[in-house]
Amino acid sequence: MKVLVIGSGGRDHSIAWKFTRSPRVGKVFVAHGNGGIARTATCVNLKTIEEMADFAERERIDLTFVGPEKPLSSGIVDLFEGRGLNIIGPSQRASRLESSKCDTKVMLRELGIPVPEFAVFSEPEPARRYVRQVGHPVVVKADGLAAGKGSLVCSTVDEGEKAVHEIMEQRVFGDAGNRVDIEKRLYGRELSFFCFTDGTSIVPMVAAQDYKRARDNDEGKNTGGMGSYSPHPWLDEHLVGTIMTRVAEPLIRGVREKYGFVYRGILYLGLMLVDEGSEIVPYVLEINIRLGDPEAQVILPRLETDLVDICEAILTGRLQDIQPVWDPRFRLCLIATSGPVKGKKGWYKGYPERYRIGAPIDGLELIDPGCLVFHSGTDLDGDGRWITTGGRVLCIVSTGDTLAAAREIAYTEMGKISFEGLYYRSDIGKE
Ligand code: GLY
Repeated sequence: MKVLVIGSGGRDHSIAWKFTRSPRVGKVFVAHGNGGIARTATCVNLKTIEEMADFAERERIDLTFVGPEKPLSSGIVDLFEGRGLNIIGPSQRASRLESSKCDTKVMLRELGIPVPEFAVFSEPEPARRYVRQVGHPVVVKADGLAAGKGSLVCSTVDEGEKAVHEIMEQRVFGDAGNRVDIEKRLYGRELSFFCFTDGTSIVPMVAAQDYKRARDNDEGKNTGGMGSYSPHPWLDEHLVGTIMTRVAEPLIRGVREKYGFVYRGILYLGLMLVDEGSEIVPYVLEINIRLGDPEAQVILPRLETDLVDICEAILTGRLQDIQPVWDPRFRLCLIATSGPVKGKKGWYKGYPERYRIGAPIDGLELIDPGCLVFHSGTDLDGDGRWITTGGRVLCIVSTGDTLAAAREIAYTEMGKISFEGLYYRSDIGKE
């Protein structure tokens, strides 16, 4: 069987790696991948979704799996399905659950799913007035796609007004900032919860803890994610039941029955668990239409069931027959990023702000083979030396019977890596 994975980051590397583990898969292609992914699969340089569909037809690809949100929001699933090609992911219509934070929050509220108190604005002045009126800490979110960086967490009214200015007037996220969703900031414990769905049946996966902020102690700017681990300490069967009945099931049923579209593929619920005394309420902070990065890097290594079998069940509407098996051991993912370095014209602050690429990476060959290394932004230079090509550079994924054991291994192994400006958080998995 031939599989095509769409994507070029650490998550997409872990998806490609997972397919190589299937006895049913003979060849894995990745479009367009990166230097590190090319060690796992065959990378193909396809730019548009039309080129990807042409390639899938020409190469007789049996299954395509989409990693990132952009091709999904551009309609890759509709295009492939229109040409009779098997592909996992939601349609363009369903992808709006991620590509419009504002419309999705309204929809969730209409479906009776727990969401933080919020309001939507398309003009900056009323947005600022709202921030001043509510007086409590808020999160200001750009409506559109912003590579995971479009949520600005604000502790004061001043910060809230500044966030509105940056998103709506300075346009730091471009057109994604045409509208904003301003939410009351909730305090609790964040959890990334994932499900497979064929549009009717929903199968919960395990959950992961993601670390979105750039600096230790959850300080600094929001990033795509600086590390993760799984299992999540709060997730037990009771909480899975609560999330399914209060969020996942009303959502998948609601979009089908009330809004007239089918959601098929991976559902990623970004939740804030708030202890309200008698119960833990899973408030939806965001919905994503794909696996998380870096959550996939810790979830997929725990999946013992063949991913191809699950994908087939999604495509044929037989997901109710699947009961995935998970390795109970901990996985911890630590991300090496391009951090602060001094350039000719001053400092590069480093990911998620301006960063420099092209730094030679040393030590990759020293990593214990018991760990997985997924590449987010690397390449080989003309001399065959690894170099950095992105803000997130590579991920080390360790295994341990306890979270502490997994954490120790990941940090020991990361200590073997070096490149100019290397930065990683020191508190991933520190409970
Ligand atoms: N880890 C957050 C995301 O994938 O959006």
